[in-house]
Amino acid sequence: MPRIALVPGDGIGTEVLREARRVLEAAAPDDLALELSDWSRLGAERWLRERVSITDEEFRSLAEDHDAVLLGALGDPRVPGNEHAKDILLGMRFRLDLYVNFRPCRLFAPAMSPLRDPPPSLLLEIFRENTEGEYTGLGGSFKTGTPDELAIEENLATRKGVERLVRAAFEHARRHGRGRVTLVDKANAMRYVGGLWRRVFQEVGEEYPEVERDAMYVDAMAMDLVRRPGRYEVIVAPNLFGDIVSDLAAEITGGLGLAPSANLHPGRHALFEPVHGSAPDIAGTGRANPLGAIGCVAMLLDHFGATDAAGRVRSAIEASIAEGRTTPDLGGRLSTSEVGDWIAERV
Ligand code: NAD
Ligand code: IPM
Ligand code: MN
Repeated sequence: MPRIALVPGDGIGTEVLREARRVLEAAAPDDLALELSDWSRLGAERWLRERVSITDEEFRSLAEDHDAVLLGALGDPRVPGNEHAKDILLGMRFRLDLYVNFRPCRLFAPAMSPLRDPPPSLLLEIFRENTEGEYTGLGGSFKTGTPDELAIEENLATRKGVERLVRAAFEHARRHGRGRVTLVDKANAMRYVGGLWRRVFQEVGEEYPEVERDAMYVDAMAMDLVRRPGRYEVIVAPNLFGDIVSDLAAEITGGLGLAPSANLHPGRHALFEPVHGSAPDIAGTGRANPLGAIGCVAMLLDHFGATDAAGRVRSAIEASIAEGRTTPDLGGRLSTSEVGDWIAERV
């Protein structure tokens, strides 16, 4: 009986998660017996009211009393530095050690890409390292607020952290018959961290002789993903570069509103969330595309072995796109909840 914590968060996170929940309830087979619990208390409103993001007891409960988390988005311009989002979202990634951030970006129809001549079928699968890099908060500032201010934000990589992520990417390539894994780094400028990634990538990659491997500097990758995206299949990247490349890959394949993601410690914890944020610019207008969040529902169902139900959700997403039953970002005229209605009806 999988127990799922639903964390809508802020802005359009709450809007897309409402639709994701309905689709999950409609699609989940009875014998899966999902138990859904509402965690809408986590978010900017609480931080603004109480200056509390999430308590240790809440972390404990998310980790121990639940089998997965489904999250909308966190971020609010009223919270300085988005402290609450760091505490909650990065908090879960770090404290639950969710080292794989898997972000598959699939182009459903060439016309959805902003590229002039996209390949007829395109699936970019990003494996983003999720517990290290520039995200750890290691660093500090000195003489803060004075003309002599000094700020340090460390970039951290461990052999263990790099190896487990790189291995997850190659294992995925092997299991799904993908031909190439590409490492994205900046080893020409970052000698130590870049060097570690390159060595581990080669060592682990040699165990997968059937999978081609290559490495790209992140600046060249930003260019080449636009120029010839069809060259790429599985992409493995450190935390920050993976964040950037995943927004780019999402846009190339139809937009941020469409991309789902999974934050995983395989065998232990799973958190599913769309790649996009809380989009304050469209929050409350009914224009948020719920398909990224609904794609997360498919990933979650797969995760619990409900592959038929997951397939029905994916087919319904494809059908909504094919029939133009979409929000304005995809050229349609439906609202967030109308898209949710349409999908929930079909699954
Ligand atoms: P964003 O992803 O929220 O929005 C970027 C652009 O894409 C905006 O123009 C927005 O309207 C559009 N967009 C995003 N999702 C959409 C959807 N589902 N349908 C239609 N259009 C969509 O990124 P941002 O504006 O840089 O960030 C806003 C806030 O969200 C910030 O506080 C940021 O830190 C946070 N954020 C959170 C997450 C997360 O919770 N995982 C991810 C990214 C950003
Ligand atoms: C994402 C977001 C987060 C990140 C922010 C909100 C900290 O951009 O999930 O992609 O950088 O990881
Ligand atoms: Mn991001």
